[in-house]
Amino acid sequence: MSATRQESVNAAQLMQWDSEYVMGTYARQPVMFVRGEGARLWDSDGKEYLDFLAGIAVCGVGHCHPRVARAIGEQAATLMHLSNLYYNPLQPALARRLCELTCMERAFFCNSGAEANECAIKIARKWAKQHKGPDCYEILTFERSFHGRTLATVTATAQPKYQEPFTPLPPGFRYLPVGDLHALDEAINERTCAVMIEPIQGEAGVHIVPPQFMAAIRALCDESGILMICDEVQSGMGRTGRFLAGAHSGIAPDIVTLAKAIADGMPMGVCLARGEAARTLVPGDHGSTFGGQPLACAAALAALDVLEEEDLMNHAARVGDHFLAGLRRLQQAMPEMVQEARGVGLMVGLELSVPEAKRIQKEMLARGIVINAIGDTILRFVPPLVVTEADCDRVVQTLEEILRSL
Ligand SMILES: Cc1ncc(COP(=O)(O)O)c(C=O)c1O
Repeated sequence: MSATRQESVNAAQLMQWDSEYVMGTYARQPVMFVRGEGARLWDSDGKEYLDFLAGIAVCGVGHCHPRVARAIGEQAATLMHLSNLYYNPLQPALARRLCELTCMERAFFCNSGAEANECAIKIARKWAKQHKGPDCYEILTFERSFHGRTLATVTATAQPKYQEPFTPLPPGFRYLPVGDLHALDEAINERTCAVMIEPIQGEAGVHIVPPQFMAAIRALCDESGILMICDEVQSGMGRTGRFLAGAHSGIAPDIVTLAKAIADGMPMGVCLARGEAARTLVPGDHGSTFGGQPLACAAALAALDVLEEEDLMNHAARVGDHFLAGLRRLQQAMPEMVQEARGVGLMVGLELSVPEAKRIQKEMLARGIVINAIGDTILRFVPPLVVTEADCDRVVQTLEEILRSL
């Protein structure tokens, strides 16, 4: 469709077409955002919003950062795509940079978090087949986890609501409660090839895995000679104040996956590995038509430049502390409404004592603030890392007004 033809159709008509022609996989909010800048969005009526969702932890350095937009524009005019059967002028530099930032050795590029986790699962299975035997393929994951929507990653995701419509699921996954060292110890046997965990379970409501448990997983994986996989699709790329959230526990996994914020909105996923795991896949084992194409790599390289030059990881830690302190004051002032405020850096959740999360999300939107409700009782805040303390104060104050009005 030409730009002119699209402009002649108004937002209401487009929303109608959406409900008619797009598969109904999302319960959309009744808003169409048409422009973004930093931590601000504008809808089709010109109304301005403060964005505390960032496309769900995606636009880390902010919407349409000029540096990222310029890199995409220049690359689009030079070379958008090429086959992975040829050398790519940007992918090696990006892989090198990501390996340096994560203490990994090699990267596989794909287009999403689920694909990055699929790659991690395939590496773990092949690595185990080579080093431990044909019956060693089981991966332990954790209750409340979220690893993606493909058949393997939805099976890794220990949430029955995402799995039930799609059974039978592929075999080879077992679920454990977070924090239960005894259960973990008991579960690891000769069939186990890896343990896979999000250092902070974002999708389930920003549940922080205790650092001692992360360290215990690392120790048990070492003891049993199996792989530790960290899914940092949501928590990575500086959101928590460190490039990887696992760094807060002082652990180094064997495989780490990234996506979401890595290219500030351009689709990109990365599976990074070290040691033997990094050398497991060989030509023919795995691939992706679009993975690591120049356009996405240009965006990712520019986003990494911005993260560094604008010191956004330290900023996220500082502003996140300020935000959490504000939410904790709200919890203390209204314990009958707010049960807990938790988070690290700018990955923050607010657990309510009342089942009003969806109503609060709607009210916040009406007042020009974009947040996310998880179930009936949890609010999630994963803003662009460029938000300010004043932005956080506005969110806390607006929340307080809404909570008092309920
Ligand atoms: C921790 C984690 N892993 C994997 C995924 C899946 O990523 P994608 O939607 O890009 O496939 C998500 C998405 O929310 C996530 O939060």
